[in-house]
This record gives sequence, C-alpha cells and structure tokens, in this order.
Amino acid sequence: MARKKIVAGNWKMNLSPAACNELVTALTAKQISLPEHTEVVIAPPYVYIDRVAGLLKDTTGFFVSGQDCHQKTSGAYTGDVSAAMLKALGCKYVILGHSERRGYHREDNALLAEKVNTALAEGLDVIFCCGEPLEIREASTQNDFVNAQITESLFHLDGAAMARIVIAYEPIWAIGTGKTATSAQAQDMHANIRSVVAGKYGQEVADNTTILYGGSCNAQNAQELFAQPDIDGGLIGGAALKADDFAAIIAAR
Ligand code: PGA
Repeated sequence: MARKKIVAGNWKMNLSPAACNELVTALTAKQISLPEHTEVVIAPPYVYIDRVAGLLKDTTGFFVSGQDCHQKTSGAYTGDVSAAMLKALGCKYVILGHSERRGYHREDNALLAEKVNTALAEGLDVIFCCGEPLEIREASTQNDFVNAQITESLFHLDGAAMARIVIAYEPIWAIGTGKTATSAQAQDMHANIRSVVAGKYGQEVADNTTILYGGSCNAQNAQELFAQPDIDGGLIGGAALKADDFAAIIAAR
C-alpha cells in the first residue's frame, strides 16, 4: 500500500437514517474527482454501512469503514459486530483504537493488537488511532505515550501487514473540543511516529505509511495541517457531518 492522502469522516453515533442519506447524496452530488492515491473514507454507524456503501458504489475513490469491530471472528458476543460482517457489507477499512473506544469501552493496547490481527485477517485495512490525554501533553511525555500505543498494538505485525495500517494521530484534548493541535505540534508528532515506524520496519515502509491528523480539524484549519510534510490527511468528526464542510476539507488535502 503506497502512501496515500486520505480524508476520513467518522460519524460516531450521529444522524438519522434520513439525514444519513441526505449527507451522502449531497456529497456525491458534488462530483468530487480525486487524484491518484487519494481516498475519501466514510465511517457511519454500523446500521448505516449497507446504505452508505450502496450510495457510494459508483463514486470513485470513496470507501466505507467500520468504527470498530470485535476481536473474535464470530460467536456469542451480544451487541458486537465482526470484521467479516464489515467486509461483507463493503467496508474497505475499520477504525480501531479510537480514544472514545479506549475510554468508554476500556480498550487497551493488548486488546487492540488482537482486533488489528482479526481485522487484517478478514481483509480489512485498519485506521489505527493513537493520541495522548491533556495531562500527558502537559508533562511533555506525549511521544513516549503514543510510541507505546503503536509499539504494543502494531509492532508484532510483519512489514506486509504493517503496510495495511493507516495511523491516525488524535490528541484527546483536541477531539470535539474546538481546540486543534497547532500544525507544528501535529507535524512534530507525525514525524516522531514515522521515525518509530522506520526504526522497526525500515524507511520504505515508513515513507509509505499514511498518517492522519484528527481532533477539531475543520474547513478552516485543514489546509495548513495537511500542508505539513508528515500529515497525509485527516480523520474528521464533527465537520464530517456537514457536506459543505467535509467537501472543503477534502479539497484541502
Ligand atoms: P472531531 O473528532 O473532529 O469532532 O474533533 C475527531 C475524531 O474523534 O475522530
């Protein structure tokens, strides 16, 4: 998987069925044409994956993602969804390790390593989220914190598997707060992540790894963030729920 530009929309637990149709229809109506090695990814709630995949099926460069999946392939796990189900409904990706999953569902690095293995084995590429809470940033230990997340959940993979991982750096203090990382703070962390990947897998794998920024990324700040050499696009929450804003962020890639 060569290094790509990706703008991904994480809808979280938002939108009615009608609003979901309206948003995707408004996006496709814009007839956004994407250059090579550029993708737009939409991660709707599970219950809308089928319809979003249907609405996007003729839109080149647009793909669907799950927001999570279970670490087991199937079984008695009430309320959970498997990687194979996401794949069968047309997902190309699954987001794993979002800070809201880590926080509200107590997902830790070891569990996420299992989820990563299952997702890759079922044919999904992974958007792996990492990022530090405010107190870690204030103590200036964010690199160690993020490096441990990456090492413990990803570094058991071989190079071929690592090539199927997109990393999303999302500082928790910037998610949904309107307080975005500065482009310099984000670039510093992305360069750190790329060098840690290079140390383990070599420069070629690191250069080909797509690293997204997430956390209050919007139509106003996307261009400056995406212009940084190690920022390859964004994972967008709130601003992905409005077609015009999301389209402006796609245009900033
Ligand atoms: P936000 O969310 O853009 O609303 O801050 C980003 C995310 O959590 O992926």
